[in-house]
Amino acid sequence: MAKAVIAGNWKMHMTCAEARAFAEAFLPLVADLPSDREVILAPPFTAIAALSEALSGSAIKISSQNVHWDGSGAYTGMISAPMLLEHGVTHAIVGHSEPRKYYSETDEQINHRARAAQEAGLIPILCVGESDAQRESGEAERVIRRQVEQGVDGLDPAALVVAYEPIWAIGTGKTCAAAEANRICALIRGWVGFPEITIQYGGSVKADNIDQLMAQSDIDGVLVGGASLDPAGFARIAGYQVPVTA
Ligand code: PGA
Repeated sequence: MAKAVIAGNWKMHMTCAEARAFAEAFLPLVADLPSDREVILAPPFTAIAALSEALSGSAIKISSQNVHWDGSGAYTGMISAPMLLEHGVTHAIVGHSEPRKYYSETDEQINHRARAAQEAGLIPILCVGESDAQRESGEAERVIRRQVEQGVDGLDPAALVVAYEPIWAIGTGKTCAAAEANRICALIRGWVGFPEITIQYGGSVKADNIDQLMAQSDIDGVLVGGASLDPAGFARIAGYQVPVTA
C-alpha cells in the first residue's frame, strides 16, 4: 500500500532563520514516525535552501508552493522545476485555491505546471475544491470534476497527489465533516480513474481532527496550512493514529 502523505504548506510564512528553528524543534519529534507515512514541508521559495540543509539526513521531504511550466525564461516572479530540483525538492503544489483566486490561475495553466513538474521528476500536489457559493448552489461536484479532469490531463497518476481542499474550509476553522470529505475524495478517485491515486484532504486540519480524517477509507493524507507552522502541533498531526478496526 502507498504511504500516507502528510504535507504542511507554510504559505507566505517563515524566514530562513525561522525555518531552521522549526526544523531543529520538529526533527526530534518525528524521529520515530511509523514507516507507513511520509511527511513533506512546503516553505516559501526563499527558505527552501535553508530548510533543505536543515532537514538533510532526515526523511522529511520538501515541496514548492508552485512551479512554472518552462524551465527558464522571461517570467518575472516565477520559479522553475530545475531550480527546485537543485535544492532536493521532491514535490510541487499546483492549483492551490489562493493562486487560483489572487492570480486568476486557470485549469489549463495548472495542468501545464503539473505536466512540467512531472516531466522534470517532481510529484505535483494538485489542489481542487469548491467555494462556499458553489457548494450552496449545488455546483460543488461539477466544479471539482472539471478541476480534476482538466488538471490531471496527460499526467501519470502514479506520480501525482490530488488534494481536495474545499475553499470554505481553508483557514476558517470550519473543517469539512470527515464523512463528506471522504465522499468527495472517493468521487475524485473515480474521476481520475486510477484506484491507487493518493488523495489528500485539506482545510483546517488540526491535531484534534487528524485521527478522524485519516481513519476515512478514501483519505490518504492531508495538506495542512496554519497548523503546520507549529513544530509540536504538526508533529502531532504527522503522528496521527487510526483506531484499529476489527
Ligand atoms: P489551513 O490551510 O489548514 O490553514 O486551512 C490549508 C491549505 O490552504 O492548504
